[in-house]
Amino acid sequence: METAAVAEDRSRELEERIAVEPDAFRILTGDRPTGPLHLGHYFGTLANRVRLQRAGVELFVLVADYQVLTDRDVADHLREHVEGLVADYLAAGIDPSTATIFRHSAVPALNQLMLPFLSLVSIAELNRNPTVKDEIAAARQTSVSGLMFTYPVHQAADILFCKANLVPVGRDQLPHQEITRTIARRFNERYAPVFPVPDALLSAAPGLLGTDGRKMSKSRGNAIALSAGPDETARLIRRAVTDDDRHITYAPDTRPEVSNLVLIAALCQGRDPHDVAAEIGDGGAAALKKVVTDSVNDFLRPIRARRAELAADRTYLGGVLAEGNERANTVADRTLEEVRAAMAS
Ligand code: TRP
Repeated sequence: METAAVAEDRSRELEERIAVEPDAFRILTGDRPTGPLHLGHYFGTLANRVRLQRAGVELFVLVADYQVLTDRDVADHLREHVEGLVADYLAAGIDPSTATIFRHSAVPALNQLMLPFLSLVSIAELNRNPTVKDEIAAARQTSVSGLMFTYPVHQAADILFCKANLVPVGRDQLPHQEITRTIARRFNERYAPVFPVPDALLSAAPGLLGTDGRKMSKSRGNAIALSAGPDETARLIRRAVTDDDRHITYAPDTRPEVSNLVLIAALCQGRDPHDVAAEIGDGGAAALKKVVTDSVNDFLRPIRARRAELAADRTYLGGVLAEGNERANTVADRTLEEVRAAMAS
């Protein structure tokens, strides 16, 4: 299995190629509509998508609604979350005039690829996936559904239906990416060369933690949502975990919580975290939290303003998604035809 270090080297190579020939690449990436996107999403992947789109790479963005049911029994507030996700994308700067924003449930031919793809992987391979294992451990369910076990195969269909060759993801998604690559290779060998073997593209930015020093996630109440107001942001940061050394430094290995707050401020200010820490110096946790709150609120102000405008125009958001669904269907129908032809000959 591809290690993170290999993927990092490969990502650097890919960035060089993207700079020279952006139109040789098509990106597919997406998110589960389970709640508002937060700063971790922004600096981990959203900013990267916007940058690559502006560089001239074609972008497919998936609202992964069929993936919501992997670790829960019901998809709550689905309509609201789907709309919210589209608003987050557009507010963050994804341009729907060239990006295709669509959802699983609106593209039947994509889902139909799951069937032949399931035949190309073994139970043992599925069983080995560390990300799925972690999710099974964290899920609040009494049993593991077939969908949980096989969703990485569905994700291969997400990526391959549009023949994307580039998938910007976090490190936790690398095992899934490996399954996609395996499926593409096996299909091409067994039938006919229909699919590219897509590369993962890792973000250069270091990962953000939540305000309590654990993984940033909405369900843990430690995430700063793009859509949160300035007061809610201030409240979350006031409660953030720090330590009792008043001298603020950036030392992620030895002071993870304080360093994470410094990093949040630095990313928002577009500066080096060591400089941000040095400026706060002996100001202690109170000064640090003030800097973080102001930086986040200043940084998110225009994004929040755009998002509020978009959220008020549900007709527009629905139109963006309908147009994306239509484009995705055209592409998916064509690929499914090729797959049928390859398997029938
Ligand atoms: N699994 C991803 C997540 O939980 C969402 C996702 C679904 C995805 N399909 C994808 C990401 C295809 C990249 C490519 O965030």
